[in-house]
Amino acid sequence: MRTRGLGMDDLRGAVAVVTGGAAGIGLGIVEALLEEGAKVVVADVEQPVLERTVAELAGRGEVRGVVTDVADAASMEALADTVFADYGACHVLWNNAGVTSGGGGNPWEQEPNDWKWCFGVNVFGTANGVLAFVPKMIESGEPGVVVTTSSGDGGIAPVPYASVYASSKAAISCFTEALAHQFAAQETNLRASIFYPSGGLLETGLWEAQRNRPPELARVRPRPPAPGTTFAEFKAALAAAGRPTDTVDLVELGRFAVQGVKEGRFVISHNLDDAGRLLHARADAIAKGELPPSALAGLT
Ligand SMILES: NC(=O)c1ccc[n+]([C@@H]2O[C@H](COP(=O)([O-])OP(=O)(O)OC[C@H]3O[C@@H](n4cnc5c(N)ncnc54)[C@H](O)[C@@H]3O)[C@@H](O)[C@H]2O)c1
Repeated sequence: MRTRGLGMDDLRGAVAVVTGGAAGIGLGIVEALLEEGAKVVVADVEQPVLERTVAELAGRGEVRGVVTDVADAASMEALADTVFADYGACHVLWNNAGVTSGGGGNPWEQEPNDWKWCFGVNVFGTANGVLAFVPKMIESGEPGVVVTTSSGDGGIAPVPYASVYASSKAAISCFTEALAHQFAAQETNLRASIFYPSGGLLETGLWEAQRNRPPELARVRPRPPAPGTTFAEFKAALAAAGRPTDTVDLVELGRFAVQGVKEGRFVISHNLDDAGRLLHARADAIAKGELPPSALAGLT
């Protein structure tokens, strides 16, 4: 595998692990990695979907599935053990699995189990990936990249009615930044990147993330989904507001993200000029001690 500096401009033969890769954005990433000639390990908690996906991808390259719960440190350790036993390396660790909190609405209506589930998958899942894989990646001496699928919701600015999810994504964007700095400071052969899925509406299973919620982390006060929390409702609301409703081709999005990895970008996202404008406005407000504009400011 050729590398350019710490970039990875040729992924042929590289070993890539994608969590939450059985469906949605992760599947697009898996398909793009296979197109590049990488060997891909798809780690996902939803076993039937994982099996179906891996069967469908057979013939498209070297791909296998490993049932994994990213929120469970032992499950991620087992995944890392399998990957290093079978391939001896991991060049791309893509911490992509993520869920919404399911709490929706007002921050004070979120239950502890909303926090536990969302942070368990989004934040501890990312931490578990790094803890399980990075020491082995460093020890292997191979070049590598750890990619975090974050969200502009939290990573750039919060959507106030998705407060727990936004907080989890802010946490992993911050963590990935620290990780990238320490990879460089410790002169490792690794780097880190943040991927912000972007470029239009993303019609994925995130809207039905509850399907994978463990029963022990169910809401104590169950309630029907808040209005506006299905993809169809969200799209209709955007259309009513005269905002664009084009949906993103998830394989194209995967190709875009993988291209960003190959180019060695730290932030991989569409519309970074818009994000920059919002971040400048946020910085200006913070510098004056004021509440910064949220993701709903219309600047993005
Ligand atoms: N859809 C969006 O609008 C959007 C926007 C920005 C960021 N994201 C992020 O993109 C990532 C992928 O989400 P998506 O939109 O493709 O949703 P998705 O539900 O289609 O895919 C998520 C995948 O993660 C898996 N998963 C869930 N819990 C898991 C666990 N505990 N362990 C392992 N796998 C688990 C699911 O089975 C599924 O295959 C998430 O991190 C999400 O936060 C999504």
